[in-house]
Order: sequence, then structure tokens, then C-alpha cells
Amino acid sequence: MAVKVAIGSDHAGFELKTAIRAELEARGHTVIDCGPFTAGHCDYPDAARDVARLVSNKNCDRGVLVCGTGIGMAIAANKFRGVRAAVCWDADSAKLARQHNDANVLCLGGRVVDADPGVKMLGIFLETAQSRDERHRRRLEKVAKIDAAERKA
Ligand code: RB5
Repeated sequence: MAVKVAIGSDHAGFELKTAIRAELEARGHTVIDCGPFTAGHCDYPDAARDVARLVSNKNCDRGVLVCGTGIGMAIAANKFRGVRAAVCWDADSAKLARQHNDANVLCLGGRVVDADPGVKMLGIFLETAQSRDERHRRRLEKVAKIDAAERKA
């Protein structure tokens, strides 16, 4: 099923974002590229904000963010209501991020992940469904309650 995916990076993730974009387009998905569009230095919170906002507002089904490690992107993206951004580093982490955490934003590290495994993780992230297991749903409901109760803005 074709989905709408917002993507973004900083300079450290630019190359992998370019490969991610090509893969998404080859698979027939709609891509909203929040930039950057050149490899020059830039700040990861800018793309994290734009991608996470699109996912939070349900204007996109999923997001993909790439910085040096994926960590800064995840920290920033998870400030947005309803965003579950997960740093993934291999096929298993990408699969479990979907099954157990219903992650809706994939965060990758361009300095720690090569293009081929990065693109493989993308495929797993898009194709894996959330687990129907009650215990994972219960835990996600608890996360949503924290989100609603503790968020100030
Ligand atoms: C940029 O040098 C680097 O700090 C950034 O890409 C990212 O890894 C932060 O989490």
C-alpha cells in the first residue's frame, strides 16, 4: 500500500536521506522532502521539527529522519504529540520498533549505518505491522497517557 512519508536530515544524514528518498519513490510512495537539498552544514532540529509536525498532524503516515546517529533527530521529534520516533540500527530493531512500539518515525544514523542496511531497515519499517498482542497495546496506551498528562503546550 502506498503511503505518504515525510523525510528530512542534517548534513551528516544527507547522503542516506538521498538513498531513502530514491527507495521510497521507487516503491511508489508519496515523499514530502523537508530538506536539506544540499550537503552543507545545517541543524538537525530543523528537519526533525518539520517532519514530526507532519506526522503529528496526520498529514503524513510516517516519517524518516537521518542525522549522524539518529539520536538528536529522535530527541527532537519525540517532542511532538503522537510522534513515536525510534532510533534503529539493524533489521531487528526496525522490526521491533514497529511491532512493540508502533513507531511512526524511523531515525537513522548516517555516520553509523551504510546505505544498504539503511534502505533495508526502511523496507522493514514500512512493511511491519504493529503487534496485536494486548501487552504491547497496554504499554503504548500508558505512553499515550504520559504524553497527554505531562505535555505542557
Ligand atoms: C552533527 O555533527 C551531529 O551532531 C548530528 O548529525 C547528530 O548526530 C546529532 O544527534
